[in-house]
Amino acid sequence: MESGAPIEDLDALEREGLAAVGSAGTIEALEQVRVEFLGRKEGRVSGLLRGMGALAPEERPKVGAAANRVKERLLSAVEAREAVLGQTDETVAEPEDLTLPQRNRWVGGRHPVTQVVDDLIAIFRTLGFTLARGPEAETEWYNFEALNTPLDHPAADEQDTLYLKGGNLLRSHTSPVQVRTLEREELPIRILAPGMVYRRDSYDATHTPAFMQLEGLAVDEGISFVDLKATLAEFARRFWGSGTRVRFRPSFFPFTEPSAEVDVKRVYRTEDGEEAETDWIEIMGAGMVDPAVLDACGIDSERYTGFAFGMGPGRIALLRYGIPDLRLFFENDVRFLEQFVRS
Ligand code: DAH
Repeated sequence: MESGAPIEDLDALEREGLAAVGSAGTIEALEQVRVEFLGRKEGRVSGLLRGMGALAPEERPKVGAAANRVKERLLSAVEAREAVLGQTDETVAEPEDLTLPQRNRWVGGRHPVTQVVDDLIAIFRTLGFTLARGPEAETEWYNFEALNTPLDHPAADEQDTLYLKGGNLLRSHTSPVQVRTLEREELPIRILAPGMVYRRDSYDATHTPAFMQLEGLAVDEGISFVDLKATLAEFARRFWGSGTRVRFRPSFFPFTEPSAEVDVKRVYRTEDGEEAETDWIEIMGAGMVDPAVLDACGIDSERYTGFAFGMGPGRIALLRYGIPDLRLFFENDVRFLEQFVRS
């Protein structure tokens, strides 16, 4: 063995070894490379170290350390290559069974009531309404009194309401958002307030103690009942189709005067091309904001007028999809919900 430049020899050996590891195409070939370079007895690195006896004593530790580093680097190259080859070997040996049925990825979707809310909001947005929100735990003032509903009024009856400790209650409608928004925002306003409301009610096919409401409110100078009718008729035609008819029936709500119940009738063509129509279906309460409500919000009711409406998107979803039982909306049964996943 030449004794002149053992470090250079080691470098050359390392390069050669790394190249051999890199071109080993199978685990078996790699094992041969490992034995050739790193084998304890016959390996070329060991062989080179054995030649160290010819070195000057002070050179030996340096060359020994360099040789150990070369060993380590070659060994980790072998291990890395082994991992790569092992992988390929496995895939070649056990290819995936392409006949297995594909496992479909579960695609979540919006709840049918949420879809209706979003569709309603999208229509009213084009009519200039923005979103507003209010708390679900309300004070009696916002839920009743500011809405011109004295606490001894039947609508404020404790029977219908879920009270919390401390005298607050779960809001029984979204109308308190009218008051909160009027207190906070500059006029004119046009808002839509979606949200859950709560009543002490039974849980059956047509009642649930919690449900979704969508409140609307517009307040400005010179707003009249004509604006209310035009807005709701336009909304109904966009939501149910251009043939939809709208009817206002006189009604009573403490916070509107005059008040109306709003019905829609859909006129459509059957598959045979004949004209057909649905019954009148009640979809919401509405009216002109009672001046007492504006006064309670510190708004000059001589100068400003407004209209308001409140509807139940859950009921609208029932009608839209022909759903027979409100409880289906609350059971989280995937077999029911997945019918409404929109692609
Ligand atoms: N708050 C009423 C309810 O829960 C619904 C309602 C009726 C809201 C008339 C309104 C309205 O804004 O003008 O039954």
